[in-house]
Amino acid sequence: MTKKRILSGMQPTNQLHLGNYLGALRNWVKLQEEDYECLFCAVDLHAITNGHNPAVLAKATREIAAAYVAAGINPDKCTIFAQSAVPAHTELMWLFTSMTPLGWLNRMTQFKEKAGKKRDNASLGLYSYPVLMAADILVYNASHVPVGEDQKQHLELAREIAGTFNHRYAKDEDFFTLPEPMIMGEATRVMSLRDGTSKMSKSAVSDMTRINLTDDADLIAQKFKKAKTDALPVPASKEECEDRAEAKNLITIYAALADKSFDEVAAEFGGKGFGDFKKALTDLAVEKLTPITSRMNELMSDEAEIDRILYKGAERANELAIPVVKKTKELMGFWA
Ligand code: TYM
Repeated sequence: MTKKRILSGMQPTNQLHLGNYLGALRNWVKLQEEDYECLFCAVDLHAITNGHNPAVLAKATREIAAAYVAAGINPDKCTIFAQSAVPAHTELMWLFTSMTPLGWLNRMTQFKEKAGKKRDNASLGLYSYPVLMAADILVYNASHVPVGEDQKQHLELAREIAGTFNHRYAKDEDFFTLPEPMIMGEATRVMSLRDGTSKMSKSAVSDMTRINLTDDADLIAQKFKKAKTDALPVPASKEECEDRAEAKNLITIYAALADKSFDEVAAEFGGKGFGDFKKALTDLAVEKLTPITSRMNELMSDEAEIDRILYKGAERANELAIPVVKKTKELMGFWA
């Protein structure tokens, strides 16, 4: 039997943050030890959909690769590559656009959030982004996609597109594998440090809302110290978190970093003051994140080594993706 295959990716827009790490990257590191072939890409084509700076795109792409390796992804075991180095993604996307009704795209909450009130000014790229994401996954026939909770809707769309293709062009056979989302761990949706009702995000204007993987110990301490809480002591259970989104978020972050359950952490710190809890959280975050940051800086000083990893990854990714697009076109009746 062929190995199960994992594909996932992150956008090279801004620095990676704690949400990316706890919601996705850390899980990838664990999954590479299991019985999967793993492919992880820097989704640079996605990064241009909402305006980007050409002067930093390549560097940001290398930074994503460096973050993967620094966090523990083994480039000898996994394929690490840049999305734009595999043209099959965009070719397959175009084929998929013809079987994606606008109604499906109109449901996508991430587009609504990112486009905001100026919907008419949003790019076609931003709107059609989930179709490219479906192509990213289906072009490798990935069976599993480890992501944070915010990507669940996009995964559902990828499954719908795969099903539609199989029905229309492959006589209902499983030409495209229907990918399973893997939403793992305690921190599937890390929230902003300043507002427990909005997601920690690369694009939030204030840097104080997130912990970046490049933040040093002082900055991490400062950000947690200033993180919003309330006047009550630390909650001792999930039930005590009602209407206390910020407190819940900080406990969730601690639990994920410590590899403990939410309940264990709530039992440990429940009833104590937030001052003490925030100190413990800072120490833990610094202990877990600073080795990644320093390894990342080290890697970024050796551009040639990162490029070597990305070249090797692109070679393997192209080898897998090209025949899938060829066969897709054949099934759709193209001249060859
Ligand atoms: P991106 O770059 O926004 O995020 C990368 C990964 O981090 C997760 N994540 C979070 N998890 C928990 N809490 C948060 N606050 C948080 N913020 C982000 C995301 O769920 C994601 O797993 N569309 C994707 C990139 C993509 C992709 C793909 C992913 C493109 N093609 C194919 C998987 C497979 C995105 O914008 O992720």
